Amino acid sequence: MNKQLQNALNALPENIAMYIKPIVEDKHFGATISAPQFEQLIKQTGLTDKQLRLALLPLAASYSISPISKFCVGAIARGLSGQLYFGANIEFLNVPLGQSVHAEQSAISHAWMKGEKGLQDITINYSPCGHCRQFMNELSTAESMRVQLPEQTEKSLQQYLPESFGPKDLDIDSRLMDGKPLTHVSAEADQLMQKAIDALNISHAPYSGSYGGIAIELNTEGESFYCGAYAENAAFNPSLPALQVALIQMQMAGKDFSTISAVALVELKSGTISHQACTQSVLDALALDIELKYLAI
Ligand code: THU
Ligand code: ZN
Repeated sequence: MNKQLQNALNALPENIAMYIKPIVEDKHFGATISAPQFEQLIKQTGLTDKQLRLALLPLAASYSISPISKFCVGAIARGLSGQLYFGANIEFLNVPLGQSVHAEQSAISHAWMKGEKGLQDITINYSPCGHCRQFMNELSTAESMRVQLPEQTEKSLQQYLPESFGPKDLDIDSRLMDGKPLTHVSAEADQLMQKAIDALNISHAPYSGSYGGIAIELNTEGESFYCGAYAENAAFNPSLPALQVALIQMQMAGKDFSTISAVALVELKSGTISHQACTQSVLDALALDIELKYLAI
């Protein structure tokens, strides 16, 4: 377990820590809390649903990688299944700030990559920025999802984003996380590239048509892969590249980026944009000395 998570656990009030510790200290803990675990924690701690989510925020924020701002943002997204997924911001030294990941994007893509088809709510330790409000407006559940901040009454996403711009304005029916997979295949793909194709098949890129996926392999013992699907946004700029989505999955699994041994990106030949150069430059900034494996299908 990383030191920040251990510190956040130690800083929890004892009446919460005693029940949450066995969950977080379990070697299979993956920065998620299942619906039955959450129900049980409510009974054990006597907290309300909202109080418990707020109490867990420091654990999510402890995953933050913020060498530039030193500002740790944590988010907890609750999927339609009732499971809770942690997220935290990521900043990259030596690349433009536009490559950063916000905590909300992290929690959302964490839930998405683990199979959720939408979100009930999101709990965040700071007010979501305009870019995150816009990112969330792309979701299958943008009309119904709730946003909870410390010391605020719960509000709907639409209350945080009045007169919103979104997919409908561009006549797009598909939504981020809507669970309608594509069916692309390639005979040329090795095992790593095949995982990248699986990610491409759940990616959301209705604006550029440049569906894409990333698979990361680690140099640790056994086969260990992390995948990311590209998440495009109607307002274009808040789009989240597949590499960032895959790195979020590593971060939430407690894996260090220095353990990456190979990265594969797959995109569609028919797409109108490419992430190849940007992906390579972020990998270079991480000082990984890795040449991106690339396939256009
Ligand atoms: N940040 C978030 O994670 N979410 C927000 O909505 C506000 C800003 C992060 C981005 C960056 O890593 C740091 O906070 C400073 O802006
Ligand atoms: Zn934001």
